[in-house]
Amino acid sequence: MWESFKEYMLLQCRKNPTNVAEIGVGKFNAVYDFLESFDHINIIKTDIMPNDNDVIKDDIVNPNLELYKNMDIIYSIRPPSELQPYLVNLALKINSQLIIKPLTNEDLNTGKIKMKLKNFKKTSFYTLK
Ligand SMILES: C[S@@+](CC[C@H](N)C(=O)[O-])C[C@H]1O[C@@H](n2cnc3c(N)ncnc32)[C@H](O)[C@@H]1O
Repeated sequence: MWESFKEYMLLQCRKNPTNVAEIGVGKFNAVYDFLESFDHINIIKTDIMPNDNDVIKDDIVNPNLELYKNMDIIYSIRPPSELQPYLVNLALKINSQLIIKPLTNEDLNTGKIKMKLKNFKKTSFYTLK
């Protein structure tokens, strides 16, 4: 499943460079580490409670827009439902793609904005655009 998700994410990084942010990374660095290994991808990871020195501390409820202003793609893996509307707000504000990989295929808590459920190989997730 994670291999499929990584592959999908890489396919979205068509620009050189592509600017990407993972939000609420926690301790799960597999997708970040994979994307970070490509020269054409500039990636940051953020969390309200950083787990390592590479994580930028940021609260998605009140995000530091300077961090995200040039992002092409923001994504979040298993974000709590109460954070999901803030991810959508941010993506709309900065006009980026948003990809949310929930814990299961549960409906997202994104209010009036409906994200699209996408199946790709052995994984599924939601996209905004
Ligand atoms: C359920 S964990 C998921 C972590 C990781 N993405 C994973 O899939 O294992 C949710 C993460 O969101 C972070 N988080 C909670 N509230 C946040 C906020 N307001 N802004 C940014 N991150 C937040 C937590 O610190 C935690 O790392």
